[in-house]
Amino acid sequence: MPNFGIYVHWPFCLSKCPYCDFNSHVSRQSIDQLNYLRLLKKELDSYSEIIGNKIIGSIFFGGGTPSLMEPNIVGNLLDYISKQYKTKQALEITLEANPTSVEQNKFIAYSSAGINRVSVGVQSLNDVDLKRLGRNHTANEAIKAIDIASNNFDSVSIDLIYCRPDQKETDWEKELHKALNLSTQHLSLYQLTIEPKTVYEKLFKAGKLKLPDEYTSAKLYQMTEDICEEFDLHKYEISNFAKNGHQCQHNLNYWHSGEWVGIGPGAHSRISKNMKRTAIINEYDPQKWSTMIIKNGNSMIEEEILTTEQNCDEYLLMSMRTTEGMKIKRYNSLGGKLNKVKVDEFINDGFLEKSNNGDSINISRKGSMLSDMIIANIASQ
Ligand SMILES: C[S@@+](CC[C@H](N)C(=O)[O-])C[C@H]1O[C@@H](n2cnc3c(N)ncnc32)[C@H](O)[C@@H]1O
Ligand code: SF4
Repeated sequence: MPNFGIYVHWPFCLSKCPYCDFNSHVSRQSIDQLNYLRLLKKELDSYSEIIGNKIIGSIFFGGGTPSLMEPNIVGNLLDYISKQYKTKQALEITLEANPTSVEQNKFIAYSSAGINRVSVGVQSLNDVDLKRLGRNHTANEAIKAIDIASNNFDSVSIDLIYCRPDQKETDWEKELHKALNLSTQHLSLYQLTIEPKTVYEKLFKAGKLKLPDEYTSAKLYQMTEDICEEFDLHKYEISNFAKNGHQCQHNLNYWHSGEWVGIGPGAHSRISKNMKRTAIINEYDPQKWSTMIIKNGNSMIEEEILTTEQNCDEYLLMSMRTTEGMKIKRYNSLGGKLNKVKVDEFINDGFLEKSNNGDSINISRKGSMLSDMIIANIASQ
C-alpha cells in the first residue's frame, strides 16, 4: 500500500546558519503559536477532499527549527489530523530538533504529544567546527540531546555535515565513529554544499573557505559508506543510512514518487487531482503565507499538472537516489522508456545493477560517483 504523507513546515529559527538556504527566518517578535496552529489547520482543511479516505502513513515536522514549537501545539495538530483522517497503525511521526538544552527539555513532552521519531541536527561533533558552522550548541549538548532522545523515541536520527572546510579524512573518520557509537538508528550524512545567496557562498567566492577537492570528497563518501556498514547502518539513499526497519518512511515516499500534502510557508505537495499528478508550491514568506490563508484558505502560488515527461523524470531522478532503485514496470507505466543499449552498457561496466528478478535497476557502488551522468543517459529521449 503506497504511503500518503503530511509535511508541516515551521519556518523560524533562533539564528541563521551561514550555510543554510532552507526557508527559515529569524523573527524579531515572538511567534503567536496558537495563531500559527489555526492557520496550519485551515490550510490542511483545504485538502480535505484530496486526503479523503487515504491512509496517512507519515507526518513530518520540518524547518526551520520545529523544535521551537510548543509540544501542546504539535499535539493539538496531531490530534486534529487523527480525528479527521485515517492513519496507519504504524504511523511514523518525525520532528526535526536542534540539540540545545532548551529543546532537549521538551523531548518528553513531544513524545507524549505523539512524536515517535526525531531527527537531531547535530552537524558536527567538534566544537571548533560547530562555531564555524554558526551553530548555537556544543558537541556535548548534542550528545546529551541524543541520549535523552533515545530514551523517549522509537527512532533517533542525526544529521551531520561533512566535507567541511579543511576537514581531513582522519578527522571525519574519528567523528563518524563517535556518532556511530551514540544510540541512533539512522544517520543523514550530507556533504557540505555551497548554496546560492548564503554567507558561505560569499566566503567561498572570496576564497575564504577551502573545501576538500573532488577526489577527497569521493574518498570521504566511500569511507562513510564502509564505516556505516561496519556498524550495521545500511545505505538506503545517497545520504541516508539506517539500521534495518529504521528507514525514514516519509522520505522514502518522496523518493518513490508517492503522494503528500505540504502545509506551512514554502511547503510543496504532490497529489492526485482528477487522476492527474499535480505539484503545488506554497507561498514562501511567512507573513504573506498567513495573509493568503486568512483570505483564501490556502497559500498556493503555483499549481501544475505534471506532464508525462515530468512525471517520468521525477520518478527516475528520485528513485535512482535510493539503493532499492527504480521499478522498471512503474517507469514504463508512467510512459517512460529506458535506453536499453545504455542500460546494458552501464550494467556491463559495473555502474548499474539489475535486481535478481529483473524488475528494478539501481546504481552500484562503483557508479555512485557518476550517478548524474548515468541517470542522464538511461532515459530514451
Ligand atoms: C531543514 S535542515 C535543518 C534542521 C534543523 N533546523 C537543524 O539545523 O538542525 C536539514 C538538514 O540539512 C542539512 N543541510 C542544510 N544546509 C546544508 C548545506 N548547505 N550543505 C549540506 N547539508 C545541509 C543539515 O544537516 C540539516 O540538519
Ligand atoms: S540549518 Fe537549521 S537552524 Fe540553521 S538556519 Fe537552517 S534550518 Fe535554521
